[in-house]
Amino acid sequence: MNSAMLYALRDAAGVPSHPIVFLVLGVLTFALHIAAVHVMLGGTALALVNAFSRDAMRRRLAAAMTTTAKIAVSVAVVLGVAPLLFVQVTYDPFWYTSNVLSAWWVVAFIVLLIAGYMALYFFYGRNHDLADARHPVRSGWSLLASLALFLLVGFIMHVLTNQMLSPDKWMQWYAPGGVIDPRGHSLHDYNVWRFGFFIALAAPVTGAWLYAYRRYLAAGRQADAAYLQWVGTLAARLLNFGGIVALVFLGAWMASLPAGLSGFSTSPVVLLAVALLLLTVALPALLGQRLLQTSLGYAPFALGAVALIAVAALREVLRWSVLKGVHGYDVFTYPLHIDWYSNVLFFTTFALIGGTTLAYFLSIAWKVGHTPQGQVYTPSPAIDRIGTAALWLIGLWLVQFFVVGFIVWAR
Ligand code: HEM
Repeated sequence: MNSAMLYALRDAAGVPSHPIVFLVLGVLTFALHIAAVHVMLGGTALALVNAFSRDAMRRRLAAAMTTTAKIAVSVAVVLGVAPLLFVQVTYDPFWYTSNVLSAWWVVAFIVLLIAGYMALYFFYGRNHDLADARHPVRSGWSLLASLALFLLVGFIMHVLTNQMLSPDKWMQWYAPGGVIDPRGHSLHDYNVWRFGFFIALAAPVTGAWLYAYRRYLAAGRQADAAYLQWVGTLAARLLNFGGIVALVFLGAWMASLPAGLSGFSTSPVVLLAVALLLLTVALPALLGQRLLQTSLGYAPFALGAVALIAVAALREVLRWSVLKGVHGYDVFTYPLHIDWYSNVLFFTTFALIGGTTLAYFLSIAWKVGHTPQGQVYTPSPAIDRIGTAALWLIGLWLVQFFVVGFIVWAR
């Protein structure tokens, strides 16, 4: 596949905003997606490891992590859509070809994800009394099934991402031995180190999440000292041990890069990502008791999120380097047809509607979580106003949608 063919596969309409805008948004939203994926995987795994115990603390954690994982799946799915939109706009020749080559798995992805999500809900529905160590656990198999299905779903995403980087192999996958096989039944290419890195990162990210969970409980006086201490020890283990394992996988991934890209492993973006990951691992030791006693308890997760942005940037720079350096394709030469209306609409929707709606939901969830059991939470007038503003903005958005649609149609 020569580069002229790759350029010919581009959308003739061009892109409505400079490619760098899509790349930056892709990096940021991928970091959010993968953070939610990590909490989801870590939460499900912690639930699985602790659910069958007769120990009261382990059962309490299993119950909390089942609820966490359930919510994290929905966040991961919603935040997966955003990088999907950006990658298919900028890298459409690669992304769509990779999808068509494994079309059967792309469709299976949705079915498997639904099955995994339902299996998690099934476990949750069957074990409302999970926190009570005296009750036996029901349908534990469904929790195991959901974790396995989530990993398979992630693996499909990994393969799609990996296959797009090898246009030189597309023909051989599409027509092995010169005979066309259009079924899309196979997953053709994977890199165990790269996939392992993204999965192993779930351990330190979940460790950082547990520090935040511990602080949240401590601030709301919702747990005794023994439980807080135990959660803290577990968080430290996950962060330290998981962080090292993830870095080993990262090293092996970098070592597996093709010879022409060997310099990439010591490039600034890789060094930055490694430095931020190490700093995240070291932070709890630097903060000591302040982790439990002050809002700095949320700092490891916040710093971890910044480290994930660096990891996402690393991943994007690598994609650009492979496609430009090895295959002669430069995304920055994509024909540009600026569409100001959609640009302004996108960013104002994101900032105003996304901002107010999220602020409303998050403040309500936060406050409810801190309300002592048995008391009813009533939102303050300020929070009420944010909710009302969000509703008005959504209403306005709907009106402009139909008005603009009507004007375009009438012209
Ligand atoms: C719930 C289970 C999921 C898991 C475990 C998962 C995991 C992953 C992993 C590990 C990657 C990185 C692959 C790599 O770079 O090698 C990834 C990338 C990605 N995922 Fe997910 N994912 C899940 C669900 C989803 C869903 C539901 C969507 C879309 C709606 C999605 C969209 C994406 C996109 C767009 C990328 C990046 C593609 C690119 O920029 O190359 N993921 N995911």
